[in-house]
Amino acid sequence: MLPQVLSLDRLCLGGLWSEAGYRREFDSPNSDLLALWYQEDPMVQAQLLGFVCLWAIVEEAHITLLAVHPRYRRQGMGQALLWAALQSAHDRGLERATLEVEADNLPAQQLYKKFGFREIGRRRNYYPKTGGDAIILWNNRLHKPDFATLLEKWYQTADAQLASAAWQLTPLLHKRS
Ligand SMILES: CC(C)(COP(=O)(O)OP(=O)(O)OC[C@H]1O[C@@H](n2cnc3c(N)ncnc32)[C@H](O)[C@@H]1OP(=O)(O)O)[C@@H](O)C(=O)NCCC(=O)NCCS
Repeated sequence: MLPQVLSLDRLCLGGLWSEAGYRREFDSPNSDLLALWYQEDPMVQAQLLGFVCLWAIVEEAHITLLAVHPRYRRQGMGQALLWAALQSAHDRGLERATLEVEADNLPAQQLYKKFGFREIGRRRNYYPKTGGDAIILWNNRLHKPDFATLLEKWYQTADAQLASAAWQLTPLLHKRS
């Protein structure tokens, strides 16, 4: 599992975390690493399609990474993963979710806005490799009474989009926490 995670990290995130970093995530009770795997043939190793990670810090969910393999984008996997992270945060009783996204990363920003994230600030020249700004996004509604309904709606949307691309969400989703 770990080699595939590292390989997808290098491909999508430029090698954000080391092997030791991921091992820490696997071992931490405050961290959820959720992944989408596909196994067509039981004799062949499952393929990692995407992953998301969150840290539970006091009452906050910090979404630290999210990536979908380039070959499988625009099919609903990003939505499925973000739904899974927010569902997990909700299940943990967390009240808010936050993340940082590079200012020129419009696909990711579109995705986060669909899930109720709103910009509350910027960190100038935050990303060392590009010099890009980080936009800080928050969703403060995880503890509100209507959030479970929103989660269900997002699940249905992601599920329908994956189904139209001939994927089935439930068997794909594996939780490692
Ligand atoms: C951001 C990312 C996870 C989206 O994954 P995905 O599987 O393509 O996402 P989905 O198919 O579920 O798309 C969900 C929504 O995101 C937005 N979106 C995704 N790709 C987009 C693009 N290229 N242009 C504009 N909007 C886009 C759309 O609103 C889309 O909804 P729609 O298909 O109904 O229009 C993926 O592009 C990725 O891995 N990027 C590289 C890593 C990264 O930037 N991670 C985020 C770091 S903060």
